[in-house]
Amino acid sequence: MSLIEVENLDKKFKIYRRGEGITGYLKSFVSRDYDEVNAVEDLDLEIEKGNMVGYIGANGAGKSTTVKMLTGILEPTSGRIEVDGINPHRERKKNAMNIGVVFGQKTQLWWDLPVRESFKLLKEIYEVSDEDYEARIDEFDEVLQLSDFWDQPVRKLSLGQKMRCELAAAFLHHPKIVYLDEPTIGLDVAVKERIRDFIRKMNEEKNITVILTTHDIGDIEDLCERIVVLDEGRKIYDGTLNELVNKFTSRRIILETEDVIELEIEGVEEVEKVNGKIEVIFDSEKISASELMKEVLEKYDVSDFQIKEPDIEMVVKKIYNEGI
Ligand SMILES: Nc1ncnc2c1ncn2[C@@H]1O[C@H](COP(=O)(O)OP(=O)(O)OP(=O)(O)O)[C@@H](O)[C@H]1O
Ligand SMILES: [Mg+2]
Repeated sequence: MSLIEVENLDKKFKIYRRGEGITGYLKSFVSRDYDEVNAVEDLDLEIEKGNMVGYIGANGAGKSTTVKMLTGILEPTSGRIEVDGINPHRERKKNAMNIGVVFGQKTQLWWDLPVRESFKLLKEIYEVSDEDYEARIDEFDEVLQLSDFWDQPVRKLSLGQKMRCELAAAFLHHPKIVYLDEPTIGLDVAVKERIRDFIRKMNEEKNITVILTTHDIGDIEDLCERIVVLDEGRKIYDGTLNELVNKFTSRRIILETEDVIELEIEGVEEVEKVNGKIEVIFDSEKISASELMKEVLEKYDVSDFQIKEPDIEMVVKKIYNEGI
C-alpha cells in the first residue's frame, strides 16, 4: 500500500447565482440557481514514502483544492483518499499528527507570540520530547537561521523570516508528510535557496514525503524528480520532469541566412523570422537536428546556426498558459 492513495477523487463547488436585493437573497434559499465548478475531477494518485512530488498547473487548476482534501480541511464530493491508512477528513486529528502544512498565503503561527513561544506551543501540541525539540531547533537554525528573530512576535517578521518559521514549524514534529502550497511565493532568491536547501535536507535525511505546489520553475528543477500536472481539475501528466520536457518540447534551430527558407519536411512544425534570424521549430521524435541541418545546408546558404536545447522554463510556462 502506498503512503498516499487517491482514487476517482472529485471535488465540486457550488456557486450560487444570487439575484439583486433582498428578494434575490431570499430566493437563493429556495431556488436551485447555481453553477457547479469541477475543481478536481476523477483524480488518481499514488505517492510512496520518501517521495518529493511537484504538483503543478495553471491558476485554478485544482492544486490547493487537492491539498485541502489531502489534509482533511475539505471533504471530497466523491472518491477515495487514504493517507497512511487514514481518511483525512473523517479522522482529521489523527491525520494532523502525521502531517505538516504550509500555505504560502497564510500563517499558522500565533500572530502576537514571539517565535520562541509559538514553537513551544507546537512542541506541546505535537508531543515532541525536550531532547528532540532541542536537537531539531538547533538543526533548523543552521539552515534557516531562526535565532536572528527568535524573540520577535510573528507579526513583526518580514515575509522571508515568516516563511522560514512556517517551514520549521511544519517539520518540527518530523511528520510523515509535509504539504507545501506555494512556499516560496514572493520571496527573494536568497531566501528561496535557503528554503529549498531545507526542504531537500528534510526529505533526504529524514525521509519525509513532500508534496510541493509551486509556480516557481526553480523549485521544480531543484527539488522534484516527479511532477504531476493538473489542468482544469484533471491530471494530465505524471512522471519525471525530463520525460515531460522530451515529450512536449519542440526543439528549435536558429539559422542566420539571407535566403528565404521553405522546408516541406516531415517533423518541421514552423519556420518563422525572429529578430532577423530564422527559427525552425521541429519535432525531435520525427526528425533529428542533424538530419534537419543536412537538408537545410544542402539547399540554402547559411552563415551560422544554433541548436537550442529544450528549456524547462518554456515547457512549464507552456503548460501553465495552454495546458497540454
Ligand atoms: N471554496 C470555494 N468555493 C467555490 N469555488 C472554489 C473554492 N475553492 C476553489 N474554488 C474553485 O475551484 C477551482 C480550483 O481552485 P484551486 O484553488 O484549487 O486552484 P489552484 O490550482 O490552487 O490555483 P492557484 O495556482 O491560483 O493557487 C477554481 O476554479 C476555484 O475558483
Ligand atoms: Mg492554489
